Amino acid sequence: MEFSNILVQWYLQNKRDLPWRETINPYNIWLSEIILQQTRVDQGMAYYLKFVAHFPTVFELANASEEQVLKLWQGLGYYSRARNLHYSAKYIVNKLQGKFPSSYIELLKLKGVGDYTASAIASICYNESTAVVDGNVYRVLARYFGIATPINSTNGIKEFKLLAETLLNPAISGTHNQAVMEFGARMCKPQNPDCENCPLNISCVSLEKKIIKNLPVKEKKLKIKNRFFNYLVVQTCDNKTIIEKRHEGIWLNLYQFPLIETKHEIDEKQLVHTDKFEALFANLNTSVQLFNMEQVVHKLSHQHIFANFWIVKTSKSDKFNINWSEIRRFPVPILIDNFLNEYKSN
Ligand code: ADE
Repeated sequence: MEFSNILVQWYLQNKRDLPWRETINPYNIWLSEIILQQTRVDQGMAYYLKFVAHFPTVFELANASEEQVLKLWQGLGYYSRARNLHYSAKYIVNKLQGKFPSSYIELLKLKGVGDYTASAIASICYNESTAVVDGNVYRVLARYFGIATPINSTNGIKEFKLLAETLLNPAISGTHNQAVMEFGARMCKPQNPDCENCPLNISCVSLEKKIIKNLPVKEKKLKIKNRFFNYLVVQTCDNKTIIEKRHEGIWLNLYQFPLIETKHEIDEKQLVHTDKFEALFANLNTSVQLFNMEQVVHKLSHQHIFANFWIVKTSKSDKFNINWSEIRRFPVPILIDNFLNEYKSN
């Protein structure tokens, strides 16, 4: 309990006087926590005061028009938070007779309320022992304990929540939670933390190892790219087709049907006017039909491939020199293998 005692003592001596700290009314705490997810305390204060002035209780908020709520929220961004706030207010009034949910589990059922907000309200208003983990808490714990698990990884989320729960002083969970967050915001800041005056500096692992600047670790999430593949599955009247070898990427040296990659999904008309299609079937009669009913989705770690397989029936030509009976000999990506399992050639 040493960690909690030190932080709570620091908090009681150093906390800022903020309007939402003068109440444990769940409506007010809910408003403040939703606003504070969107902005810093100094800017959030003005919004909080505007909201409680216009909507002193959940009933006024529920009775407001969405336009009024969005107008008051204007400037904070991420407007779905405001819509969820309004939606949940109406839900509380109409479905719960205006009685605010009074436990972590019940709070989680509100739209826009996740683990963080439910823990904050449950601990501050009902002293339920559930630990909050926000950006401040991740930073304090990662640094103090020297934990390098990425805070945005599945393992990290579990590990930090569990650790935060074990550190919680259940007798004063609301104060403890606010103490860790306030400490993160004011002492253990992202840049230039005040380690010299920190009440935890003798036992802080990352201070001793001089790795404060490296923690917490955040995993860079790769942006998923959508790609649109059109495979030309040639079917000649003498039962031949054509395949090509890939010369790049994860499918290097695997075989595939001639591929036309496009920026979006395309229809048959657009397909037959692509350069590759025109070159491949110059002077040949073709009839084109889409084989799959829906785009085939193939998910890779950093890209999603949306594939269409176009069956192109055509006359014989020297270009089309692979017998359908031989096709299974070639190594192909699983996406094409799956297609071959379903497609029966002439
Ligand atoms: N940041 C967001 N909510 C907070 C709270 N209740 N106490 C301290 N910092 C916070």
